[in-house]
Amino acid sequence: MKKRQLGPCVTFFPQPATLVATQDGEGRTNLMMASWVGIVSKTPPTLAVSLHHQRKTYANIVAGKVFSVNIVPARLVVAGDACGLVSGHVADKSELTSLVTVAGAATGAPLVDDSPLSVECRYVQEIVLGDYRLVLAEIIEIHACDAAFDEQGKIDARAFDPLVYLGGIREYWSLGSKSADAYSAGLAMAKKP
Ligand SMILES: Cc1cc2nc3c(=O)[nH]c(=O)nc-3n(C[C@H](O)[C@H](O)[C@H](O)COP(=O)(O)O)c2cc1C
Repeated sequence: MKKRQLGPCVTFFPQPATLVATQDGEGRTNLMMASWVGIVSKTPPTLAVSLHHQRKTYANIVAGKVFSVNIVPARLVVAGDACGLVSGHVADKSELTSLVTVAGAATGAPLVDDSPLSVECRYVQEIVLGDYRLVLAEIIEIHACDAAFDEQGKIDARAFDPLVYLGGIREYWSLGSKSADAYSAGLAMAKKP
C-alpha cells in the first residue's frame, strides 16, 4: 500500500467521543468533550484520559478525585461538541446544553443521564506530558443502558451508537455495521495446522 508520511501529528487516528463529567468545590457540574480517552488495563480496571492542564475538568478531577466518562451517542453530537467548544471556566455547560446529570451510585460523580454508557472513575495518578496530564483512574462502576441488552443479557452495540472522532480532519463519524467477532475471526488463520 502506498502511504504518505504526515509527521508526528495527531491527524486522523480514530478515537472515542466522550463527555467527562466532574464537579467543582461548590458542587457545580462541568461537562467536557474528550477524545484522548481509553481503557488501558483490565487488572486493575483502569481508564486513562489526557487533559490540558488549564481545563476546568482537570482542576475538578485533581480537587475532587472522582469523575465519570460518558460515551456520546450520535444523537447527542451537537451538545457533545458544544462541551468541547466552551470551557466551564466561562459558562455552565449543563445549562447551555440541557444535558442532565445524576449522581453515580458508587462514587457520587455526576453521570450524563442521556449517555448509554457511563464509567465511574477514581483518580489514581497522573503523568506529565508537556501541556497535558495523562490521568490514570480506577474504574469503579460501569452503567450501561437497559436497551442495549436482549433477553439473554447479550449486548447489541447499536443501542450505544457511539461517535468516533477523527482528529486532524475534525470530523465525527458513526459506527457502520458489525464486521466480525473479536478473538474469533482470526482463529482460522491463527490456528496451527
Ligand atoms: C472532539 C473534541 C475532542 C477533545 N478532546 C480533548 C481531550 O482529549 N483532552 C483535552 O484536554 N481537551 C480536549 N478537547 C478540548 C476540550 O473539550 C475543550 O477545551 C473544553 O472547552 C474544555 O472544557 P473545560 O475547561 O470545561 O474542562 C476536545 C475537544 C473536542 C471538540
